[in-house]
Amino acid sequence: MPTTTPQKQQSTGMERASELLFYVNGCEVTEKNVDPETMLLPYLRKKLRLTGTKYGCGGGGCGACTVMISRYNPITKKIRHFPANACLTPICSLYGAAVTTVEGIGSTKTRIHPVQERIAKCHGTQCGFCTPGMVMSIYTLLRNNPEPTLSQLTEALDGNLCRCTGYRPIIDACKTFCKTSGCCQSKENGTCCLDQGINESQEPEEENKASPKLFSEEEFLPLDPTQELIFPPELMMMAEKQPLRTRVFGGDRMMWISPVSLKDLLEAKAKYPQAPVVMGNTSVGPQMKFKGVFHPVIISPDRIEELNVVSYSCNGLTLGAGLSLAQVKDILADMTLKLPSEKTQLYHVLLKHLGTLAGSQIRNMASLGGHIVSRHLDSDVNPLLAVGNCTLNLLSKEGERQIPLNEQFLKKCPTADLKPEEILISVNIPYSRKWEFVSAFRQAQRQRNALAIVNSGMRVCFGGGDGIIRELSIFYGGVGPTTVCAKNSCQKLIGRPWNEEMLETACRLILEEVSLPGSAPGGKVEFKRTLIISFLFKFYLEVSQILKRMAPVHSPGFADNYENMLEDLSSRQYWSAFKYQTADAKQPPQDSVGRPVMHLSGIKHATGEAIYCDDMPKLDQELFLTFVTSSRAHAKIMFIDLSEALSLPGVVDIVTEDHLHGVNSFCLLTKPEKLLDTYKVSCVGQLVCAVIAESEVQAKQAAKKVKIVYQDLKPLILTIEEAIQHNSFLEEERKLEYGNVDEAFKVVDQILEGEIHMGGQEHFYMETQSMLVSPKGEDQEIDVYVSTQFPKYIQDIVASTLKLPANKVMCHVKRVGGAFGGKVTKTGIMAAITAFVANKHGRPVRCILERGEDMLITGGRHPYFAKYRAGFMNDGRILALDMEHYSNGGATLDESLFVIELGILKMENAYKFPNLRCRGWACKTNLPSNTALRGFGFPQSGLITEACLTEVAARCGLSPEEVRTINMYKEIDQTPYKQEINAENLIQCWKECLAMSSYSLRKTAVEKFNAENYWKKKGLAVVPLKFPVGLLSLAAGQAAALIHVYLDGSVLVTHGGIEMGQGVHTKMIQVVSRELRMPMSNVHLRGTSTETIPNTNASGGSVVADLNGLAVKNACQTLLKRLEPIISKNPQGTWEDWAQAAFNESISLSATGYFRGYESDMNWETGEGHPFEYFVYGAACSEVEVDCLTGDHKNVRTDIVMDIGYSLNPALDKGQIEGAFIQGMGLYTTEELNYSPQGVLYTRGPSQYKIPAICDIPTELNISLLPPSQNSNTLYSSKGLGEPGVFLGCSVFFAIHDAVKAARQERGLCGPFMLNSPLTPEKIRMACEDKFTTMIPRDKPGSYVPWNIRI
Ligand SMILES: Cc1cc2nc3c(=O)[nH]c(=O)nc-3n(C[C@H](O)[C@H](O)[C@H](O)COP(=O)(O)OP(=O)(O)OC[C@H]3O[C@@H](n4cnc5c(N)ncnc54)[C@H](O)[C@@H]3O)c2cc1C
Ligand code: FES
Ligand code: FES
Repeated sequence: MPTTTPQKQQSTGMERASELLFYVNGCEVTEKNVDPETMLLPYLRKKLRLTGTKYGCGGGGCGACTVMISRYNPITKKIRHFPANACLTPICSLYGAAVTTVEGIGSTKTRIHPVQERIAKCHGTQCGFCTPGMVMSIYTLLRNNPEPTLSQLTEALDGNLCRCTGYRPIIDACKTFCKTSGCCQSKENGTCCLDQGINESQEPEEENKASPKLFSEEEFLPLDPTQELIFPPELMMMAEKQPLRTRVFGGDRMMWISPVSLKDLLEAKAKYPQAPVVMGNTSVGPQMKFKGVFHPVIISPDRIEELNVVSYSCNGLTLGAGLSLAQVKDILADMTLKLPSEKTQLYHVLLKHLGTLAGSQIRNMASLGGHIVSRHLDSDVNPLLAVGNCTLNLLSKEGERQIPLNEQFLKKCPTADLKPEEILISVNIPYSRKWEFVSAFRQAQRQRNALAIVNSGMRVCFGGGDGIIRELSIFYGGVGPTTVCAKNSCQKLIGRPWNEEMLETACRLILEEVSLPGSAPGGKVEFKRTLIISFLFKFYLEVSQILKRMAPVHSPGFADNYENMLEDLSSRQYWSAFKYQTADAKQPPQDSVGRPVMHLSGIKHATGEAIYCDDMPKLDQELFLTFVTSSRAHAKIMFIDLSEALSLPGVVDIVTEDHLHGVNSFCLLTKPEKLLDTYKVSCVGQLVCAVIAESEVQAKQAAKKVKIVYQDLKPLILTIEEAIQHNSFLEEERKLEYGNVDEAFKVVDQILEGEIHMGGQEHFYMETQSMLVSPKGEDQEIDVYVSTQFPKYIQDIVASTLKLPANKVMCHVKRVGGAFGGKVTKTGIMAAITAFVANKHGRPVRCILERGEDMLITGGRHPYFAKYRAGFMNDGRILALDMEHYSNGGATLDESLFVIELGILKMENAYKFPNLRCRGWACKTNLPSNTALRGFGFPQSGLITEACLTEVAARCGLSPEEVRTINMYKEIDQTPYKQEINAENLIQCWKECLAMSSYSLRKTAVEKFNAENYWKKKGLAVVPLKFPVGLLSLAAGQAAALIHVYLDGSVLVTHGGIEMGQGVHTKMIQVVSRELRMPMSNVHLRGTSTETIPNTNASGGSVVADLNGLAVKNACQTLLKRLEPIISKNPQGTWEDWAQAAFNESISLSATGYFRGYESDMNWETGEGHPFEYFVYGAACSEVEVDCLTGDHKNVRTDIVMDIGYSLNPALDKGQIEGAFIQGMGLYTTEELNYSPQGVLYTRGPSQYKIPAICDIPTELNISLLPPSQNSNTLYSSKGLGEPGVFLGCSVFFAIHDAVKAARQERGLCGPFMLNSPLTPEKIRMACEDKFTTMIPRDKPGSYVPWNIRI
């Protein structure tokens, strides 16, 4: 059917609304010429300059853009407040609504809101980029329910991701709002029953006091609902009084029609049958944004009562198609309370899936009708509605009709589908009947806010208590292009008794009917096949269990150890404890060092006032730059056609390699890297050219019009194995050798050879790569505002590209919304190109990457493949270890060599291997260059070593912890590079961790659980940590600071470190406060700039506070020394007095501070050196529960003990430990990058790539810090700890390993086995081999092209 253009539509007589009207934060907003393509997020940020609401993904997956939307219903007279993702909310949908953003609920200028205060004071912010979204999710819940349970609060945060905190402190903040959290509310000793995790199953002799809390609830502002912004009375009046008229908004390309009556809606649909009916826009929005779908006309009904109907009849419930999924959930929850359970079988299972579907924001935006009609292949609701025999009530101008929501409808068969002019009005959801049972299953990469890999709805109806199947209906999602019905199988099973024989036949039939080709999109084919029948088995057991109760005679019966397999693994309980050394009682109160001081930007994070790069206002004449990237992994560019792109309105320039003649490369370490590649590309995502336009929209549209003709080149090397085969390496091998490995192999009892593969990791900093470059117009000066960890590098690369001396280029960083190693090299390249354009045009240029671009272009943690050979004695002593590490470095060197080196130097972790050889290679492949990521090679090399130890233990018949203990450093010893190490604190951490976790008791409990449960297994693992801290060279550790004292006594400090969430600025102010003996409030820090601190080193490697702190201390001491005569003359004076006196005596009140760096060196020729300054020690014990049928797991409890020396700030340090641990847990379990066989990254946003969410954190998390004991040269004997905790996440990996081992042993698979990382549900399920995994068809390797490859 031809689509009418908007221009033609304008003459149809439909009334064009004069203006769009809605409220934001209590203020009226009117728009005369609104563009329907505009979403609320850019409108808030760019037009209204409300930059508190953040962009994190643009697709509803991260929650950074959460706002509250309020609507008044003039019929019910009720106001509905709900959380929404501003990135998916078209502003045209907001007519008559009130939007509340983080700025609207409180600010430092007026009054901060209790939610803002508590999230900050409970230390729930680090980089702060996610915080406004978190605040708005909690706030909205509290608007609806001022006394929520903890479960409701954490559910409200389902759709909010945080990459820094590990969520625990955010939960702490939530708890303060709970009145019925299940907690005793006792504040005795500062703890409540839920905070005494350490006490839970303590071994009797263990001392078990938790330290005082890190915040004081007593000082919190009370939550007073009467103080909230009211719903604008004007909007109420408007809703009551204004005549109902269809509104039409027309933009350049799109027309938005908002009918307000059913009649108008049907008319609009008749006129524009191809136009989508946009309700929540959570399906249409992402399609338009990410898949290039365009709709010239959109129909968006507003307040049509018929679409919101809720009615009951004797047959069931009728729900309006316009109800949101959250409303449907509430209605169903109510029904299940009111009706007998036999009638609400379907409602129960719908509730179950609606609880895990997406995040709270999406559930509140998405409509029932939109969900049904979208028919996504992984829809959670459609399979259930289909098995429940639901019907759809349709309406068009021609009349009404009903169609069943059945297989044909789901397949979009034209005879069973809506006609283009029809509207789905409502859905009939019948009651279940006696002897009818319905179940729902789903397995996703993460328990919540993750699309199902496979889901299913299953229903059986027996004629009575005879157990004979009368009706059977089974639907699956995720296993085909749409929801799939196992109709023929079900048909064949009718009349069969419900018993094991039937199950066996059912599995066979269904596997035949619901067949998946080996190359099916989404991959995981064998896992999906296994889930198909595993779910069936679960259903069988679930029904059998009920039959056992209702009709014991006809129940097939099943083993006792099958009983608890049906319980979900999720938990909404959260316990925690933190034990640390409190500051010395004699320490002066104004000395904040060692005290749990809140992040000094915490409140600003929570109010949205903290400014990040893209929050900076648009500069005069500002341009926007976007990149065109390669779509081929290895190809020659034969031809680029820029003409169409250049001809588009607003396009100013397109810069290619040719423009950068002579300046197109820059060297970070040893090899130069190109900025743009316009002739030959060596990975998908390579920067080919840059499109510059007046606006972001224009630049993006033009970029799509750049036409590139490629000629593929050979070889295409993507995987590590392929690189090894082609001898494709970025550098020579690195080798470390200690003792005599070959001789040792001759004397050992056993030799083990093995391999392990470990996937990479995406940084997933919440703030994507951002930069704004502004030429000053004088003397060629240029300012670069950029989200980076390494301002000096940005300065150097920009200066080199512009052929300017460094003194003309100034780089400024206020704060960074997370970095984790990812904001150095690629940031530099993009900043250089942006600066080139800014310089060329003499205009400011902004470049902000979208999430998908960022993930595609910037690379991440190196995937690793390792081969190992271990020689050991039967008692578990490893005498010889020979390792080969291969990392996937991608197309260019970047930091790959450094990663390999540090991986090798740290690979022995906590163990003394008397004879060790480790060699490493960074493989050169046709993938985007991988780079630094928190831990820098150690999370990979440490895991490899631990995996090897675990296998050695299995061979020796010992437990892994025994083999770990046997091989651990025990006393003063020597590392493989011959640096001295004192293992006292390592041993102490290990012992304390075993004691604190009640390891031996719990191991027995786990064994008992495993003996009693066949399909659920628990696992327990404890892993030690020795993390060497240092940068391998003296020069890399130098740092500088600058301090000014002003005449009013206030102090301005600056240093070379970047604030990226770790709280370094807070710590630096603590240092000044101690050294100058003044309150922290007297000290200010504006940010980092190459203008104030030249020649900074990169912020990373856990040493930012260490090094800069020593420089700050040095500056303070210089200043104090100078002022000593003045202070001693007037010891009771104030800083104002002393500053004035110094000024009067012409004494400088400004001082620089400097720290040379730690003496360190490493000689790779001899394999000897002193590369590190000190070691951070620790240990973590984790317990998991695994569902062997689905591969799901839950982290039940983690205990961490760390030796971090003297903690400068226990609150910030705990945050680093927790955050790193959770990031590590993600690395080793859920975070999986998928590449196509052509090298295209599929996982380009939170919808596909699953970092841990709030549902993933351990139910119980206990952290204990060793009392500071070892003196060192470090700042106040503190230790850096940004990175070490990542590795501790592997305790979860090995706990899963332990659980899988128990499952395998019970199934008679007793030999050692190897699990690769990440341990996703797929890997867990497939390792728990059983009759179902053997039943599925397997494809012969090579007989099909897989959807994805392991790189
Ligand atoms: C981040 C994210 C996470 C998600 N996670 C999950 C998940 O875990 N599980 C899951 O099942 N789904 C998930 N989804 C999908 C989500 O459930 C659907 O996008 C949503 O239900 C669609 O509803 P909507 O109102 O937003 O549809 P819209 O985008 O407004 O419309 C979708 C389609 O439905 C049609 N339509 C809407 N209403 C009617 C009507 N009354 N009559 C006729 N046609 C109509 C429109 O024409 C359009 O084609 C997720 C989506 C996002 C963005
Ligand atoms: S930016 Fe809207 S959800 Fe991520
Ligand atoms: S504080 Fe949550 S993303 Fe940084």
